[in-house]
Amino acid sequence: MLFLDSSDPREIKDIFAWGVVKGVTTNPLILAREAGSVDLEERIHAILHVCPGPVSVELTSETESSMLEEALRYHAWGPSRIVIKVPFSEIGLRVTHQLCARHIATNVTCLMNFNQAYLAALAGGTYVSIFSGRVRDMGYDVRPIIAATRAQFDREKLEAHIIVGSVRHLMDVNEALEHGAHIVTVTPTILRKMLHNPKTDETIREFNAAWASRAK
Ligand code: E4P
Repeated sequence: MLFLDSSDPREIKDIFAWGVVKGVTTNPLILAREAGSVDLEERIHAILHVCPGPVSVELTSETESSMLEEALRYHAWGPSRIVIKVPFSEIGLRVTHQLCARHIATNVTCLMNFNQAYLAALAGGTYVSIFSGRVRDMGYDVRPIIAATRAQFDREKLEAHIIVGSVRHLMDVNEALEHGAHIVTVTPTILRKMLHNPKTDETIREFNAAWASRAK
């Protein structure tokens, strides 16, 4: 399954019309870049309006009580579809666990290894997000991390879904899916790159030219 890593409602609306993405993930960096001066609640409502699936919104406060308060505020914007993105930490696990007890969907984020993803799932995370590009930035191979996480979730029948994000290249998408990601979240740029193959364009041109110049 594919999610879209974007906070731009126009882009999200356009791409949802392709019928290939099922949800949206945002993060503070994406929002700051795409909508720094816009009111967050307004922006998230605009996204909910064009995305019929789950929309992840990340917490930016750093104490347990303020994170819970922030989570409940975001949850109220769309109780059935807002997913609270919880940055991974000891406090993050506590917050995830409490939100799980209240049946509030979470996406535990910024995960760089198997151990973190496993803890996030045990705490009750609905989604766990492994950051492919950032793992590779550290010089590690993300594929065995994804595969080990998926194998463990399957063995224990853990309900958490693995999202692979921080996707930089088309190969990251293919490899994440091959190694067991349930979902890959891609930027509009990566998704548009998935469309193109010069041989496809050449073939379509050849077919259409043959039809246009047929003997009548
Ligand atoms: C995933 O949910 C994150 O929003 C995202 O993919 C982070 O990727 P980055 O490494 O490009 O910041």
